[in-house]
Amino acid sequence: MGRLHRVRWHREGRAVSGKTEDMTRDHRPLARALAADLQAEGVPGRIADLFTSVPRHLFLPDVYWTIDGTRYDRGADPDGWLRTAYSDQALTTQYDDGAEGTGTMGIPTSSSSAPAIMARMLAAAELGSGHRVLEVGTGTGYNAALLSELLGEGRVVTIEIDHRVAVKARTALAVAGYRPGLLTGDGENLSSSSGAGHDRIIATCTVAEIPLSWMEVLRPLGRIVTPWAPSPGLPGGLLAVLDDEGERLSGRFEGALAFMWARGQRGPARAPSGPGAVVGAVEQVDGDPRKSWFDGEMSVLLSLLVPDWFFGLRMEPGAVEPYVWVASTRCASWLHLHADGRVEEGGSRRMFAEFTAGLARWRDEGSPGIGAFGLSVDRATGDRTVWLRAPEYPLWTSDGNPI
Ligand SMILES: C[S@@+](CC[C@H](N)C(=O)[O-])C[C@H]1O[C@@H](n2cnc3c(N)ncnc32)[C@H](O)[C@@H]1O
Repeated sequence: MGRLHRVRWHREGRAVSGKTEDMTRDHRPLARALAADLQAEGVPGRIADLFTSVPRHLFLPDVYWTIDGTRYDRGADPDGWLRTAYSDQALTTQYDDGAEGTGTMGIPTSSSSAPAIMARMLAAAELGSGHRVLEVGTGTGYNAALLSELLGEGRVVTIEIDHRVAVKARTALAVAGYRPGLLTGDGENLSSSSGAGHDRIIATCTVAEIPLSWMEVLRPLGRIVTPWAPSPGLPGGLLAVLDDEGERLSGRFEGALAFMWARGQRGPARAPSGPGAVVGAVEQVDGDPRKSWFDGEMSVLLSLLVPDWFFGLRMEPGAVEPYVWVASTRCASWLHLHADGRVEEGGSRRMFAEFTAGLARWRDEGSPGIGAFGLSVDRATGDRTVWLRAPEYPLWTSDGNPI
């Protein structure tokens, strides 16, 4: 560990990718403040300390964006660029799989995740000395460096699907003094080249289906820590912490979070039905039927209570407020929830009744929080069961059938 520190500080003052680092800007007080903030928020000391030891800015490109779309350019504002690198924010480094530069901002497709979320995932993994870990989604390489610092680089393998992203991560890791195993390829379809026998798999992209190949390379009694959402296309997800229990992996969710989706599991290409779609049923309800979908945690709870849908917002021509559209992933059914209490439905599935029944059941159960819910995945088939309080009390299974 000490050797790595010396190597990194030394390299900081040297030419990096053709540029010379400015020694007058010292990142270390910023890194220490970030680590202290993380610890104050409850992150265990040995995890928080990693954020002091591994300089995040070495993993960031000269231009990145915060979630609100603010652009940080190292050349134009070196202080702002460095300060923000050590803030607890996700920093987008790629849009639209690398098609940025077209003038329009699209969908973020690679980033350095927010430090508090990385810390939360590292803590949830309960990494012990001697553990071998596989990370899916190398991105900037920063998390792989944190893992290498914690476990030793020989125990870390990371895989990235985007070739250009992987090349940049390789350079950044080398500059920072870390050499974990780096693979370029689809982390959903791991081959034996990723090395069998990982005690932990940490994914930094969201999945709805736990890939069978993850379960194949996971060691007995291993653990998978991954952002998970019930259906592709949902904007918010949960942190799933799944332990090997023999024929299945199982565990409770550790809160809500939002990560970009694994490439192979992105939202359905089907556009939601718009204004003018053939309406099968209209209902007028008291109050604003959209409110559960506007509340991040509540909409995640809804996704646990009722399977197979995704949603978004859209403006009706001439309207001042957007409506919420909900589309079934099981069939062509849809739902529009309007600010004035109108609920419109199309197709054969009566989703509004399903949401009403799901919420009633949740209230009958004492309105449990996200931590009371969990997921089990069949090792052989990948079939999923969402449960409340214990795997013996399932809410629904992969086939979408409520139990
Ligand atoms: C949130 S970023 C990763 C953050 C990263 N761990 C870091 O520390 O900077 C998610 C990454 O997952 C990658 N990704 C998406 N689908 C993938 C897949 N199927 N296999 C491997 N990487 C994938 C994306 O290209 C993106 O770089």
